[in-house]
Formats: sequence, C-alpha cells, structure tokens
Amino acid sequence: MPELTKVAIVYYSSTGTVYELANSVLSGAKDAGADVRLLKVQELAPEEAIASNQGWADHCSATQDVPVATHDDILWADAVVFGTPTRFGNVSSQLKQFLDTLGGLWAQGLLADKVYSGFTATATAHGGQESTLLAMYNSFHHFGGIVVAPGYTDPIKFVDGNPYGTSHVNGQGAIPVDDTARAAAAYQGKRVATIATAVKSGLAA
Ligand SMILES: Cc1cc2nc3c(=O)[nH]c(=O)nc-3n(C[C@H](O)[C@H](O)[C@H](O)COP(=O)(O)O)c2cc1C
Repeated sequence: MPELTKVAIVYYSSTGTVYELANSVLSGAKDAGADVRLLKVQELAPEEAIASNQGWADHCSATQDVPVATHDDILWADAVVFGTPTRFGNVSSQLKQFLDTLGGLWAQGLLADKVYSGFTATATAHGGQESTLLAMYNSFHHFGGIVVAPGYTDPIKFVDGNPYGTSHVNGQGAIPVDDTARAAAAYQGKRVATIATAVKSGLAA
C-alpha cells in the first residue's frame, strides 16, 4: 500500500476569511485521499493592534488551537497550499515572514520538487487578488517547486473566475465566504492532492 500523499495547508488570517477557505482546501485534499495538516503562521502584529479590532481578536482566540507551521511541516509535505489575505496587492507580512524563514531549507534543496499552490482574499473586487497570488508564486519558482494553479480545469472555475487560485471578496467583512468560494477551494485542494500524488509516484518510479 503506497504512503498517502501529504498536503500541508499553511495560512495567515486576521478575521477568518482565509481561514475558512483553508478549511475548504483541506476538505478537498482529504476527499482526494491525502493526509492533511492545517497550520497557521505566527501572528506578528502587536496585541494592541489585535485588540483594536473585535473581529481580529475573536478570530485569534477562536483559532488558538490551530498549530503553528514549522519547518518540519514543510519537510513532511509533498504539497503545500499557502493562504494569505491581500495586503496592498501583496502577500501579508505574517505569511511572507514564514516564507522568508525557509531560506535554510531552500539552500539544501529541500523545498524543490514539491507541489505548491495558493489562495487569497480581498476586501474589494479588483483589490489585488491576482497580484497577491502571483507574488506568492514568485517564491515557489525560487523553491524549485511545481506550481499547480487551478486554471479553468473544472466547471467551478468558470463560476469563481480566478485561474490563479481560489479567492474571495469579503466586502470588509460584509460578504461571508460563500458556496462558490468553498467549492473552488475544495476543488483546488483536490487538484493539488491529485497532482502531488502523480508527481510523488512518478519520482519514486
Ligand atoms: C494593511 C491592509 C492592507 C490591505 N490591502 C488590501 C488590498 O490591497 N486590497 C483589498 O481589496 N483589500 C485589502 N485589505 C483587506 C484584506 O485583504 C481583507 O480584509 C482580508 O482579505 C480578509 O481576510 P481575513 O479575514 O482572512 O483576514 C487590506 C487590509 C489591511 C489590514
């Protein structure tokens, strides 16, 4: 019996939107038969900043039991799906900080040949979802990773409309994650797990 494909979902979320997408990515990867880990990155914002936003403070306490991603999680994974809210059209500093700590693994070639993918959220339509995902994907190319974007490989992609990765416009918290975003995220998790399984068995052959 071949070893299960291992998928890590590593995310940052202030107010829960990206966290919800992460859970759908996880369920899609699980449905594809993968062994999955849901991991947050370390919060870097000062306590005063978190406390000044009720939604942020609530989300922090609601997810306090989610494990913080470590380098061992990345080494464990055959595929890593990273999630971040958009920050000025870019990756959040919290997720970027985690990516930047991976330099030692990169130097040893230990990030190469894994499958990578990403998802994001913005407050506004055209608020930088694609630029955030493409900025994130720059790092994956440096890793020597295999970038698995969803493209338009499933009918749900013609509904959610973002071939670069799952994304959701949350309207400053007024628009909760909906069925379309959930289905797109689950599809992305499934696709990542399926392609990672093919890569893994191909490399082992
Ligand atoms: C410093 C900062 C910069 C942001 N930049 C953008 C942006 O460029 N475009 C946008 O639509 N939303 C922007 N937002 C809104 C967040 O992307 C949005 O609140 C987030 O996606 C919600 O995800 P979360 O609930 O997982 O934290 C920004 C928010 C902050 C705090």
